[in-house]
Parts: sequence; C-alpha cells; structure tokens
Amino acid sequence: MTDKATVLVTGGAGYIGSHAVLALRDAGRRVVVIDNLVTGFRQAVPEGLPFVEGDVADMALVSATLAEHRIGAILHFAGSVVVPESVTDPLKYYRNNTAASRALIEAAVTAGVPHFIFSSTAATYGIPEVTPVNEDAPQRPINPYGMSKLMTEAMLADVAAAHPINYCALRYFNVAGADPQGRSGQSTAGATHLIKVAAEAACGRRDHVAIFGTDYDTPDGTGVRDYIHVTDLAEAHLMALAALEAEPTVSHRLNCGYGRGFSVREVLDAVDRLTNSPITRRHQPRRAGDPDQLVADNSAIRATLGWQPRLDNLDTIVAHALAWERKRGAAAV
Ligand code: UD1
Repeated sequence: MTDKATVLVTGGAGYIGSHAVLALRDAGRRVVVIDNLVTGFRQAVPEGLPFVEGDVADMALVSATLAEHRIGAILHFAGSVVVPESVTDPLKYYRNNTAASRALIEAAVTAGVPHFIFSSTAATYGIPEVTPVNEDAPQRPINPYGMSKLMTEAMLADVAAAHPINYCALRYFNVAGADPQGRSGQSTAGATHLIKVAAEAACGRRDHVAIFGTDYDTPDGTGVRDYIHVTDLAEAHLMALAALEAEPTVSHRLNCGYGRGFSVREVLDAVDRLTNSPITRRHQPRRAGDPDQLVADNSAIRATLGWQPRLDNLDTIVAHALAWERKRGAAAV
C-alpha cells in the first residue's frame, strides 16, 4: 500500500465501479466502497475491502464514512443508468443521480475532501451536430438521464469555484466488456445495453436481439456508437485521480471513448464471429431518443491525462463480455 489518500468509491459493487475498484487495488490504493446494492452485487466487491451498505444520499452515513476512513478522494459511480426508464420515471433520475450527488458533494465539501471524480455521460451532448464530438460541443441532453448527469456537472463546476475541491467529469461513451482476468463483469438484471444483450443471446439467455432502427443516416442504416472497454475506462479514472492530486486547483471535463464507431450490425457480426453461430436478429422500429451516431473526440483525455487505450478492439471487448457471460452461467449468478 502507498501513503496516498484513501479513495471512496460509490457504486463500487456495480458494473463500472467494481472495475475501478480493481484498478485502484491493482495500483496499490486503499479503497472503501459504498453501495446500496439496489443494482450492485456484494460479491462484486473484493474480500477484505471495507464495505458500507447504504445510500450516497444518506449524509450522516457518508459523513461518518469520510471521517472514519480519512477519505482523500471520491470516485462517484452510484446512480441509475437506463435511458428509456429515465423518460418514463424522470424523478427517479433526478433523485438517484442529481439529488443524491448534491448530498454527496455537500458531505465532501463539509469534510474537506479535496478531489472528486464523477461518472458523466455522452448523453449530456444529446444529438451532436458534429462527429466526433468534443468537450466544447453544446450539451443539450434529449432525455432525463442525460439531464440528471449534466446538472451534476454544473453543480461540480460551481462548487469547485467556491470551495477547495477539484473535480474531473468523465463523459463515458458506450462502456462494454469485462475484466480481462474474469474478476468482474456486467451482471445487471434486465440489461438493455447492446453488447450485454448480445452476449446473453449468444449464451442462450435470450432468443433474439432486436435491431432498433435500420434507417439511420449511417453506412449500414443501424446506430453507430463508440464502444470503450470497461478496463480502459477504469484506467482513465486512475489517471484522472493522479491529475487531480498533482494540480489541486485544476478541474477537467473529458470524453472517454476510442474515437471510432461501430454499427449495431458490426457488433452483432463480431459476436457471431467469436461464437461461430449466428444469433437471431429481429428488425424493430427506432428506439425513442437514439441519435444516429455518437463517437468521441478523445484528443483531450489523451493530451490531458496521457491516457492511452490498451484494449481498443471490438473483438476483444466482445470476447471479454462473452467470457463473463459464460462464467455467470456456470456460476448461476
Ligand atoms: C445510452 C446513453 C449513454 C449512456 C448509456 C447508459 C444515449 C444516446 N446514450 O447509450 O450515454 O452512458 O445509455 O446506460 O442516451 N441497440 C439495439 N438493440 C438492443 C440494444 C441497443 O439495436 O437490444 C442499439 C441502440 O439503438 C443503439 C446501440 O445499439 O444504436 C447502443 O445502444 P445501448 O447499448 O442501449 O446504449 P446507448 O443507448 O447508446
């Protein structure tokens, strides 16, 4: 272990948070996890790690945790992430994402925690006018999920201007894959994300995959997204933390993607190629609120953090997602 500050990871029992915990531990950082286990899994948190079961909106619990472990940085993953659900139940998103983040940020400021990393999203851009999209593009979310995250970005900017805390908002594009060593992966029940859904179908857990829209303004008519391996994303958090610690008065807003898009058909082709057996595809109408394409300009994160993707390969992402899905099947989790 290092003499570096202890890190609190909210949502550390969830998909992306659990991979960040692994990256922090692999780098020798002390980690404490808080998770309410509504969508996370207790077994996703490594044995022996301090674990607090509870909500980030519970300021008394969070304040006690910050003091007890002398937390020096917060990585905030906890939140709700299903875009269509945010449209039908917006207040859930403004509660679990915006209001809960407000409480957490207040607890952090009160305790004097100097660094804060926030899981933001490409959904804050809405339908970008220019592709690839850079961080200066207008942020005009087209769903409550994106708006709930954008509001948190706004709070952080104001708070960092008023208090001795700096922050990094990482705007994730489409996160997929699983830990290459098989220690974690996506276990979310009722997943809606393409690669996860396709991996479930390839493992016989679904009888087909829907292709939502074949008339988009893209080369093959299906939606194009920038898929980033969850382990590369976890690494970006470590590097962001180092940058915040090195320059405590500077904050960052950075895209996390590879800068290359793949269509729904290309993703499904990769799954078929790797399993040698075609999954059933069904054409369905467009899903509400889906842009034609969403691809990151990642030059800022490369220049600012020196981040370099290591697993920038669609087949690698899909192979790791499949490996995790098979492991889940074998373990029946
Ligand atoms: C969305 C958000 C993203 C956010 C993520 C969080 C937008 C534009 N993007 O990603 O910022 O981080 O949710 O949950 O709001 N598709 C199918 N069949 C399926 C599933 C998906 O064809 O069964 C298609 C979609 O239409 C889309 C692509 O696959 O073109 C990716 O969809 P998905 O994996 O759900 O992620 P996004 O909606 O892009």
